[in-house]
Amino acid sequence: MNTHSISRRQFAHLLGVGAAAAIVRPRITIAKEPATVPAPAKPGVVRLSANENPYGPSSKAHDAMKNAHGICNRYPDEANDVLIDKIAKINDINRDQIVLGDGSSEILKLCAETFTGPTEGKLVAADPTFESILEYSKACGAEVVKVPLTGSYAHDLPKMGASAQKGLIYVCNPNNPTASITPKNDLRDFIAKTSPATMILVDEAYFHYADSPDYESVIPLVKDHPNLIVARTFSKVYGMAGLRCGYGVAQPDTIKRMHGFQMFDSVNIMALTAASASLDDADQVTNGRKMNDDARKFTLTELGKMGYKSIPSQANFIMFDCRKPVVPIIQAMKEKDVAVGRLFPAYPNHMRLTIGKQAEMEAFVSAFKQVMA
Ligand SMILES: Cc1ncc(COP(=O)(O)O)c(C=O)c1O
Repeated sequence: MNTHSISRRQFAHLLGVGAAAAIVRPRITIAKEPATVPAPAKPGVVRLSANENPYGPSSKAHDAMKNAHGICNRYPDEANDVLIDKIAKINDINRDQIVLGDGSSEILKLCAETFTGPTEGKLVAADPTFESILEYSKACGAEVVKVPLTGSYAHDLPKMGASAQKGLIYVCNPNNPTASITPKNDLRDFIAKTSPATMILVDEAYFHYADSPDYESVIPLVKDHPNLIVARTFSKVYGMAGLRCGYGVAQPDTIKRMHGFQMFDSVNIMALTAASASLDDADQVTNGRKMNDDARKFTLTELGKMGYKSIPSQANFIMFDCRKPVVPIIQAMKEKDVAVGRLFPAYPNHMRLTIGKQAEMEAFVSAFKQVMA
C-alpha cells in the first residue's frame, strides 16, 4: 500500500469536483498523511498574477474527467487520437501536422531543443515577451537575442529577421506581458520573406481573446511554410492551466523532428479528455471572452479615472504604466492580499495585471487606490 496515497473521495473533494465523483474503493485512512494537494493560496488572496482563467474549465470538461476515472490505468493512446482528430478538424489540417504537449510550455521547449543550440542557431525574441523559451534555448547552449518591441508594442519584425540566421524566431501574438498584437499583414509578409532555413514559432496562447481586425491566427499559413510552427494552449480561455495541455501545428517533417525530443505520452488522460470535451463546448469561448471583456472594461475605466494608461489589450490581462517603479507597488499590493504580475525589466514602471472576475477587479481597484494614495 502506498502510504502517500489519498482516497479518490478526498481528492475529488479537495479539487472541488464534488462528492459525486466515482468512488471505487473503500477509503484508506492513514495517520499523519502528508499533503498530496497543496493548501489553497492564502484564503482571501486575489490572484491576478498568472493570466489564469478565473472561471475554470467547461462543465463538459469536468464531466469528461469524471468519466475518465475508470480508464486512468490505461496509457492515453486513444484519448490522444480523439483530441488530435478534433484539433485537425477545427483547424482544417491533417493529423500529422499536430504535436500535443504538456501545456504549450512543452511545445516551446521542444522548439528550443529542436531548433536552437550551438549548431542549430540562436533564438531571436522580443523584449519584453514570455521568457520561458529564452531559458530553454539558453539551456540548449543557444545564443539569445532580444529585440525591443516597437513604439506601438508590436514585434519589430524587420529587426528580428535581420538578427536571425538559421535558429528560431519566437513571435508571441498577442504578446505576454504587453497584451499587444503584431498586425496580421506585417506578420504574414514577414513569414513569406523569412528564409526557410530559419524557423518561426508563433505563440497563440491568447488567440481566443483577440478580436482586433488587425489580428489573425497564422495556422492557415502553415501549409505553405515548412519553417512555421504555431503553439496553442488549453490553459487560457479553456481554463485548464492546472491540467496541462497544449499543442503545436507545423508541417509533418517539422512535427517528426520535434517528436524526436519528446517524452512518450507526455499529456495525461485527464487533460486529454478535458481538452477534447472543451472543444465541444462553444459557449466556453464565447462566455469566457464576454466575461473577460466586461471585467477588463471595468478595470480600464477605473484606471483611466485615476489617470493610468494601459497598453491596448487583446488578451485576458492588461499592462499599464504606474509612472513609478512597479516592484514596491507589487509588494504593497501583496500586503493587501492582491497578487499582481511580476516585474518585466524592459518596462520597470509597468504592471501586468490578469483580468479576474468582476469582484476580484473591484478588490484590485480598491487596494490599488490605497497603495497609490
Ligand atoms: C504566451 C504564453 N505562452 C505559453 C504559456 C505557457 O502556457 P501553458 O504551458 O500553460 O500552455 C504562457 C503562460 O502563461 C504564455 O503566456
